[in-house]
Amino acid sequence: MASLPVERGHFVWGSARQMAREPHRFIKDVALQHDGICAFRALHRRMVAVADPELAHELLVTKWQRFTRTRQSLNIGIIGRGLLALSGDEWLERRRLTQSAFTKGVLGGVAQASAEATKALYASWDAEQARNGSVDLEAGTLRLSMAVIARMLLSSDISGAMADQVGQTLRRGLQLILKRNTAIWSPPMWLPTAGNRALLEVRRELTGFISEHLSKHHEESSESSDLLSTLKSARDPRTDKALSAEALLEETKTLFFAGYETAATSLTWALYLIARAPKVGREAQRELDGVLCGRTPRYDDLPALPYIRAILQETMRVYPPVYALPRIAVGDDELGGYRIPRGTVVIVSIAGVHASPVWGEDRDRFRPERFLSGDWPRRAFMPYGAGRHLCIGSDFANVEMAIVLAMILQRYNLQTSTVVEPKARVTQVPDRAIKLCLTRRA
Ligand code: HEM
Repeated sequence: MASLPVERGHFVWGSARQMAREPHRFIKDVALQHDGICAFRALHRRMVAVADPELAHELLVTKWQRFTRTRQSLNIGIIGRGLLALSGDEWLERRRLTQSAFTKGVLGGVAQASAEATKALYASWDAEQARNGSVDLEAGTLRLSMAVIARMLLSSDISGAMADQVGQTLRRGLQLILKRNTAIWSPPMWLPTAGNRALLEVRRELTGFISEHLSKHHEESSESSDLLSTLKSARDPRTDKALSAEALLEETKTLFFAGYETAATSLTWALYLIARAPKVGREAQRELDGVLCGRTPRYDDLPALPYIRAILQETMRVYPPVYALPRIAVGDDELGGYRIPRGTVVIVSIAGVHASPVWGEDRDRFRPERFLSGDWPRRAFMPYGAGRHLCIGSDFANVEMAIVLAMILQRYNLQTSTVVEPKARVTQVPDRAIKLCLTRRA
């Protein structure tokens, strides 16, 4: 069997420093520089970075049971025992149940909640633009995403100071998790270190906030377009079992956590990229004006907006919010003919797969048109992962992002002179605040 290409790194710590400083960039670059797969070491831990689409498919789809999620990637510290933290039969049962809650009615509800949240954003952006001559892009998309997820999951309208406070708690949690996951050594959770205490504090705040809202959500207020109601009434198609009260709390926390920053980040990148490429904005506006003639888009309109969908796909190709998926080999195994010893952490760089040579010479360019023909490399596009753990909220996110993007482009022309690079939080975010200048369309 062939031996893996190796990145040697420093003779003591290997590549641990690069992993701690810029994990998103390091994993992508090291894999791409070695034809899509490369071994490296972070102190004593042997790891493998993958950016080749076929190898990523083999790992995540064909061999998903032999390469499982690592303890670190599960972030049990703050989320609790929801879909992101479970494995084996327990995960499968929970996945079946939770999946059945994402009905078409819920997606219609997501479209409506997204349209309402965008109208609220119009008001705050108009005021901010008049006051400052520009708006803080990420602050707006984070507030909007919080409003949508809270409406769908907690049946609750949270905005203003409350939205900012919960958002800050979640982002503090994400930052602490990233620090813990990329540290050379992370202390066990029972040790009362400053980092562990801060994580537990985030968990307490989040659990308190969600439990309070769950107890307020009583049967009479249930609507079929609200995800919390469909989660409560979901039954396992095989056993007819419902989620226990504890599982409902854990799952709500997980969905809240998984769906908040990811969607906001994609929207931030999409609006940034459009503001830097006005031709793309104009093309989208032509499509929107032709299909909607100025009215608010609904769920049923989305199939008629292929260019909006292509912009979102291309945005997530260029800047995938979840930039890497770590897995661990449960036994001695192989990948693409290379030997992978038991216990090796193999990290799929989604950003690397999306920048692999199969995307052609212009792969570094933002060019939504590449998604308009049916002829693009399916296996080399995985913003929502691949295989059994494929994102459960992908339709939710696609509907939310398409409605919001459509409505923002209906109302404004976008411009920015800010230039940003991606930096790693748990998702891949811009490294500085983006000042977006909005001009109302005539
Ligand atoms: C643009 C937005 C989003 C992106 C890019 C994204 C990305 C991902 C990715 C890459 C995974 C796979 C993780 C793995 O294989 O280990 C995943 C899983 C998951 N996502 Fe998303 N996600 C997004 C939005 C959402 C939303 C809106 C929700 C919930 C409402 C959600 C809930 C989840 C859950 C629960 C899982 C775990 C699934 C399982 O293991 O069975 N995500 N997501």
